[in-house]
Amino acid sequence: MELGSWSHLVGRFFEVASAARLEGDERREVEFWLDRESEAAIFWAQPDADQRHGLEAARTIAVGQPGRRDLIRAALLHDVGKRHSDLGLIGRSLASMAAKLRLPVRGSWARYLAHGALGAEELARLGSETLVVEFARHHHQRRPTTIPAEDWDILVSADR
Ligand SMILES: [Fe+2]
Ligand SMILES: [Fe+2]
Repeated sequence: MELGSWSHLVGRFFEVASAARLEGDERREVEFWLDRESEAAIFWAQPDADQRHGLEAARTIAVGQPGRRDLIRAALLHDVGKRHSDLGLIGRSLASMAAKLRLPVRGSWARYLAHGALGAEELARLGSETLVVEFARHHHQRRPTTIPAEDWDILVSADR
């Protein structure tokens, strides 16, 4: 599994370390893009940093494509599977490095590296639309045929 460049990992490390809880207007903004209670439940069960990362990705898209609710929702929800690994900052970084070095991993590291598939399965069960499910599943891999190239590029660049 590819998790981006080393510099991206280092950047994310500091972002995650300094993320503040979503408050007031930010929470209402997230709620506006969620379609069902069950999505809200898994979104708000994420660590603060992952909530903020989802909201920032969603905002990046909403600025240029406010009418693309599907893309915005896909960005907002793409990392919900991360919460199953229950890994702290250091654990996540080590798991990502292990993946880059192609070392075998188990347990919470393996769950962390499989967060795309885990999140996609949940979102599919909740009835989220195909684009949301498919972006969650594939966002660390190659574009699946179920997502048009143009949409994929927008989503990937929002998930910097
Ligand atoms: Fe991810
Ligand atoms: Fe992400």
